[in-house]
Amino acid sequence: MKINNICCIGAGYVGGPTMAIIAQKNPDINVYVVDVNQEKINRWNSSDLENLPVYEPGLAEVVSSVRGKNLFFSTDIDKNIRESEMIFISVNTPTKTYGDGKGMAADLTYVELCARKIAEVSRTDKIIVEKSTLPVKTAAAIKNIVDETGNGVNFQILSNPEFLAEGTAMRDLEVPDRVLIGGEQTESGKKAIELLVEIYSSWVPKSNILTTNLWSSELSKLSANAFLAQRISSVNSLSELCEKTGANIDEVSKAIGMDSRIGSKFLKSSVGFGGSCFQKDILNLVYISKSLGLNEVADYWNQVIIINDHQKRRFGNNILKSLHGTVANKKITFFGWAFKKNTNDSRESAAIYVAKQLLNEKAILQIYDPKVSEKQILSDLKNLNVDMDFINNKKVICLNNPYDAVGDSHAIAILTEWDEFIDYDWKKIFEKMKKPAFIFDGRNILDRESVENVGFVYKGIGN
Ligand code: NAD
Ligand code: UGA
Repeated sequence: MKINNICCIGAGYVGGPTMAIIAQKNPDINVYVVDVNQEKINRWNSSDLENLPVYEPGLAEVVSSVRGKNLFFSTDIDKNIRESEMIFISVNTPTKTYGDGKGMAADLTYVELCARKIAEVSRTDKIIVEKSTLPVKTAAAIKNIVDETGNGVNFQILSNPEFLAEGTAMRDLEVPDRVLIGGEQTESGKKAIELLVEIYSSWVPKSNILTTNLWSSELSKLSANAFLAQRISSVNSLSELCEKTGANIDEVSKAIGMDSRIGSKFLKSSVGFGGSCFQKDILNLVYISKSLGLNEVADYWNQVIIINDHQKRRFGNNILKSLHGTVANKKITFFGWAFKKNTNDSRESAAIYVAKQLLNEKAILQIYDPKVSEKQILSDLKNLNVDMDFINNKKVICLNNPYDAVGDSHAIAILTEWDEFIDYDWKKIFEKMKKPAFIFDGRNILDRESVENVGFVYKGIGN
């Protein structure tokens, strides 16, 4: 088999950027990214590159260099599956909100629909690649579905989890620490692995392409996210201890991170990790462990989530306590809504949880984020069951200019570490606020001395 055409089902944060890079690095392969969401596909095809559905530094340039040449976005799912030799499944796998495993297990509905669709329309042999993050053993379920419902063609299933982080996706895809490919350890399984290795080796050194059995690959993805999140919860748990003892969490992080066995990355204390994956993937790991009767393992990983929830609540409590125990009718400005800088993604952002907590205390929120739209902010609050009366009664005000957003507010809460916040004219901002004016720096990005010099009361995390 030779790979001439690739189809990727799911044109989201992973499917879009990943396929843009694969197309750019493999000009001889046509890459078709398909999705059920017509509006999203229209935006991927739009000539307005500012309006792509995903904001990632560098993405628009890559898309414009290959779109219409060997990268195509379409809603014609059946045709593109049928004509491709390799099909990536890159659909969302959110936490289940119903039935068995509610609130913990991954909802595999969309993955199963993809498997059934592939089986239904395929007339020639296919390699199916799991790009979505999936529970260990999902490949066996996909294999059963496609073999039972297919038309007698051969399917090979590979696991090729994605490790990109939002905000740095293009760099992560260009120079990945590793590409992981798991497959069946049979002759045809190994051939399929080799075909995918060939695609990546157009730009990734072979030494960085790791091949394993299917289950190791699936489990490594959940484990990698759990390890990363665990580091953040570890450092966040210590931030509370710092606040009680006079230690400074940034100094502690630096001191421990200089041990080369520990390493300095991912030790930045924060208001809590967000994003669509860390919580979902750990919950999934906990669920799998529990299902297998491994209660101690489940409890160990669950603690990472418990600390993260505690950190978000603690941040809100700190604001409340500092403003004399009440924020009722007080204006509080949020700088940042995205779950991290350089993305327009706000899924599971700590900002949403802190906002809900403060709205329940009857605060008025003025929100500014450089990339997240008002529509998205209001929809995030709605999805978290925030009382819509708050929104109807203008308790949530989204503003496009940071200097307008601080008007008459008592406090600024920094929820995202956008670089532009560091460069603001903090004296001008201070003048627009009620006094005493507070900054609650949920990302420890501001220089305490500089903002205190213009008059602010500064409260960071863990210092
Ligand atoms: P996303 O929600 O941005 O995109 C998923 C897309 O799949 C949506 O556009 C949706 O319309 C489409 N879709 C769903 N069902 C479909 C179907 N049956 N047919 C066609 N299209 C369908 O999700 P994402 O952030 O790209 O994540 C996708 C997967 O990748 C998840 O499993 C996630 O855990 C994993 N992942 C995400 C990231 C990340 O940074 N976002 C990183 C690594 C791995
Ligand atoms: C994370 C992983 O880093 C990726 O490897 C993985 O592919 C991806 O999840 C996924 O599976 O979806 P992402 O969530 O996009 O990527 O972004 P991260 O940089 O990991 O940040 C996650 C959250 O942790 C953010 O809210 C960030 O602000 C927070 N964080 C990160 C900290 O609070 N402290 C840190 O030191 C690092």
